Amino acid sequence: MTLQVESQIKQYALITGASGGIGYELSELMAKDGHNLILAARNIEKLNELSRDLNKKYNVEVIPFKVDLTSEEERTAFINNLRDNKYHVSILINNAGFGDAGCFAEVDWTKTDRMIQLNITALTHLTRELLPAMIDAGYGRILNIASIAGFLPGPNMSVYYASKSYVISFSAALREELKNTGVTVTALCPGPVQTNFFNFAGASESRLNTMMKPAEPKSVAYYGYHSMMKGKGRVVHGLLNKLMVFVINFIPAEVSNPIVKRLHT
Ligand SMILES: NC(=O)c1ccc[n+]([C@@H]2O[C@H](COP(=O)([O-])OP(=O)(O)OC[C@H]3O[C@@H](n4cnc5c(N)ncnc54)[C@H](OP(=O)(O)O)[C@@H]3O)[C@@H](O)[C@H]2O)c1
Repeated sequence: MTLQVESQIKQYALITGASGGIGYELSELMAKDGHNLILAARNIEKLNELSRDLNKKYNVEVIPFKVDLTSEEERTAFINNLRDNKYHVSILINNAGFGDAGCFAEVDWTKTDRMIQLNITALTHLTRELLPAMIDAGYGRILNIASIAGFLPGPNMSVYYASKSYVISFSAALREELKNTGVTVTALCPGPVQTNFFNFAGASESRLNTMMKPAEPKSVAYYGYHSMMKGKGRVVHGLLNKLMVFVINFIPAEVSNPIVKRLHT
């Protein structure tokens, strides 16, 4: 009886930061696989256009939401809106995030504060609010976009690296808490990806961006989406990144810190 009732409830995948980069590609992939989508970002024109396209191409329901996730007020209104409309989110993708380059003593505090709000607070808040319904339904998938930056300290991009460490740690702990509930948590850790990320971070000229060949966002989205659907835990995209993450385990921070610092200048 319960199963029958559950199966009648329309389910949605919520993707934050769907207006560009990895989130945009995730939206396309998931619509193609028949998922109804709720897309969130600030650029409503891009979201409207994407929603119309995906609806036309794949005949799925796509609902765009204009929301600045760094604002607690807007986040709360967004979550209330989901509740009022009885949208059951069975898949949550916390993808929206950004970085900021520069030595900490000189970075713009407002931008740093917004980064913490987006990369940490919004991800945690959305998860907290949407998780209980997934547990009640006995099924849920959560994909948190972390980064290989989360595996070590990041001089000259310190808060961004620390925010991604938070995402990795939080995802692993939550995954353990949710064992046997039908809800899984995946942390996707990409290396550099060809999106607007480095421009916005003011790091397009950094050694990291110019030395390493960035991955295609489509390939990162594909890997993240399938890892999440399989219920995997922490996944690192790309062979070279996997190797780097393995090697990092054996390198003391005193050695890696100056190297990372140089990569971000
Ligand atoms: N690119 C990389 O090298 C790389 C590497 C590792 C991890 N990542 C992670 O991957 C995720 C996606 O980044 P990306 O590379 O795809 O960057 P991107 O192309 O800059 O996309 C960022 C997305 O986040 C949204 N966003 C930004 N601020 C927002 C806000 N205040 N409220 C709501 N949405 C907001 C943007 O939409 P609007 O501007 O329309 O709001 C956009 O859709 C991030 O968490 C990033 O840290 C990126």
